[in-house]
Amino acid sequence: MTNETKLNRRYFMKGVGATAVFGSALGSVPVTAAGMGQSSSMSTTINFDDGYDRVDTGSIKFDLIKMFNPGKQLDVGMGIADMDFRTLPQVTAALKKRLETENWGYELPPLDYPANIVSWNKRRYGADVPKGNILNSVGVLDGVLSILNAFGEEGDHVLVNTPTYSSFFTTIHQANMHEAMNEMKLVNGRYEIDWEDFEAQIAGGIKQFILCNPQNPTGNCWSAEELKRMGDICNKHNCLVIADEIHCDFVLDGAKYIPYASLGDEYAQNSISLKSTSKSFNLASHRTGYLFSHNRAHIDKLLKFGHQRLLLNIMGMIASNEALKHGDAYIDEQNAYLTENAKYVEKFCAERIPLIKYNVQDGTYLAWLDISALSEKLDAKNKAIEITAYNVANNVMKTDFFGVESIKKLGTGDYLKEWFMDNARIDINPGENYGKGGEGFMRMNMATNRKMLELALTNIEKAVNAL
Ligand SMILES: Cc1ncc(COP(=O)(O)O)c(C=O)c1O
Repeated sequence: MTNETKLNRRYFMKGVGATAVFGSALGSVPVTAAGMGQSSSMSTTINFDDGYDRVDTGSIKFDLIKMFNPGKQLDVGMGIADMDFRTLPQVTAALKKRLETENWGYELPPLDYPANIVSWNKRRYGADVPKGNILNSVGVLDGVLSILNAFGEEGDHVLVNTPTYSSFFTTIHQANMHEAMNEMKLVNGRYEIDWEDFEAQIAGGIKQFILCNPQNPTGNCWSAEELKRMGDICNKHNCLVIADEIHCDFVLDGAKYIPYASLGDEYAQNSISLKSTSKSFNLASHRTGYLFSHNRAHIDKLLKFGHQRLLLNIMGMIASNEALKHGDAYIDEQNAYLTENAKYVEKFCAERIPLIKYNVQDGTYLAWLDISALSEKLDAKNKAIEITAYNVANNVMKTDFFGVESIKKLGTGDYLKEWFMDNARIDINPGENYGKGGEGFMRMNMATNRKMLELALTNIEKAVNAL
């Protein structure tokens, strides 16, 4: 153990006695301390054009989908929101180095991790994250669930702007609560809040609102004006803002992500923000996220309700820490690449698949495709009804991941998902999964190399032309 590491362990042990909150415990540790740091002179770039094959790696996007669709050919998995890119080389190097110790006893997070969270948010977005008020979280949804439980009661309604990330619904249900959907309006190609409905629902007694910024699946990076307007309504009616900003590092061509908590103290005090490196650096399987609030009472409340996540899996925390230290160029290059992907999809659809409409969005790597004309042409709604009636009459079953069987009932979106799989050999997600306003859309993940994207689009083009 080097002198520096010994010193830092002493710092930590002193602090940990005072509080179990890792941010507070590490308050006085210098940024350069500890961690499994690698030289920042190592190249931070990767070749996003690399043909990276994820088949037979245990990936949900390819392997699970193949498992659930036996006998079908899948060329490109474009469902779940992860990327087909290699992560930052420094992350892999640090993990390899840790692996070599061959000891997996209890271990502290890298001591400079909180400082690196603060530094990343400051240098990338000018946002001040209060270091002593950061809590670890096993992914972002784990944090959202903790917040819902701590700040609400069973049976409550939780507001979301729909269409929205489908697992918010699952998480809300896990808290024994109900979703309240504020359906957005599509105005000149951009989703806008229905303000009257937003305020009416919150004024009606809703105590928690999940803000998704940038928004999954529409890609909106909310403007300061929009964020403040949402925040003012929430503040007025004493509704907590849960700001899920997991997609914040994905900003396309000229758009800007504005951290909710940076809008001013009145917004920061009535909010809890959640982030992670999992989307940004493709580290989702490490299950490592974090949350913070400028309002210490909110953090204390979470701790009181049992949100103790000081020790996450060490590999995840090392990975996140390295990413935050060395990842700037990677994110910039990745955003440039993803912007070109989005433009490529926009042009391809406009020129070669007019039945599908798509415009480049502000943020995320998720294309929210308007497939309403295709759906109409396929008579998808009626087909889904017919197939479901047949399946019910003939006990045609489906099995979920845990082996639970149920009759295979198809919504319009499920029919379309199968149509894309059967005819274009791609897997994409039905818009209906994203709540009100999702019908007629499908979500396609564009975070893959250009060749795969081209293959997917060419497959769709052929399938549509064959109609
Ligand atoms: C908006 C949003 N929040 C949370 C998550 C999931 O985060 P985690 O895996 O860290 O729980 C996702 C994943 O797609 C997401 O899009």
